[in-house]
Amino acid sequence: MQDKQRILTGDRPTGRLHLGHYVGSLKNRVKLQYDYETFILIADVQALTTHFDKPALIKDSIFQVAVDNLSAGLDPSAVTFIQQSQIPAIAELTVLFSLLVSVNTLRHNPTVKSEAAQYGYQDLSYGFLGYPVSQAADIIFCRADLVPVGDDQLPHLELARKIVRRFNELYSAGLKEPKELLGPIPRLKGLDGSSKMGKSRGNAIFLSDSDETVAEKITAAKTDPARVHKNDPGHPDICTIYSYHQAFNAERHEEIFEDCKRGAVGCRDCKRHLTSCLNRQLLPIREKRRHYEANLHIVRELIMEGSKKARLIGDETVCRLKQAMSLDLENMN
Ligand code: TRP
Repeated sequence: MQDKQRILTGDRPTGRLHLGHYVGSLKNRVKLQYDYETFILIADVQALTTHFDKPALIKDSIFQVAVDNLSAGLDPSAVTFIQQSQIPAIAELTVLFSLLVSVNTLRHNPTVKSEAAQYGYQDLSYGFLGYPVSQAADIIFCRADLVPVGDDQLPHLELARKIVRRFNELYSAGLKEPKELLGPIPRLKGLDGSSKMGKSRGNAIFLSDSDETVAEKITAAKTDPARVHKNDPGHPDICTIYSYHQAFNAERHEEIFEDCKRGAVGCRDCKRHLTSCLNRQLLPIREKRRHYEANLHIVRELIMEGSKKARLIGDETVCRLKQAMSLDLENMN
């Protein structure tokens, strides 16, 4: 039997994960976990590129991100959690790969550009500008076949492939090119109607929110501004709440679309319905979270065990590459 293909994907531990992560990636990870060998990277070094002055937040988020993944349904006996900073191979490969990446390529990376704008960086740090190189090392150290990502990560994956090709050309390194596995669902809007739910944008429903908090957040969310009275015809296609029905209410979102357009359902009832839908789906997630939060030592062990396994894989990759580059005096080709 052929070995399973390997998946690597990751999260930055800069806070807790939210419904955008859930529909955009966590659900998909859960679906893929038994068909692929799945590695989940907790990218703490990458988180530090923007949050270097918040070590306590990063530490807490390393746990929270793991708990979010586990609560969403990832099976600790099937997947491997990896803490990025604990894998020396990632740091070593970052240095070797950086030799092959021009500063201009990084400066023109659209995701780096928009993040720099978001964080108000005029003067980028070397580490921030170069994080896509480090992300290539995340993927290549474990020789991943597939990388499930959102479309904002495509420039990074393209860079990883370029590095692989260049390495193979120069040193006959025999690395394989990783491929993306694009998420199934378009980006979830923020509660404020902006195009993206984001941890730091104050417009997110977190997987760890209580059912009361979910109810409050949905109640306060903006709907179609043209609807003043309950019976006014609505415009579900521009309504944030309707977009959540699409993502979380597979059975009834079409009916809601029609009812809203006809003015047959008011915003209040529509929100109430959504809230109960969300809370129903969050119930098993909250139960698992309770278990892990009461047993954080299990989470810690899982991350440490996974990182240990990843270190061995990484050391092997580094060894092979150093041999290919004729740097390894002990094992000269
Ligand atoms: N950049 C990713 C994000 O912001 C997180 C990440 C780090 C990642 N390393 C990765 C994703 C490797 C995929 C593969 O969400």
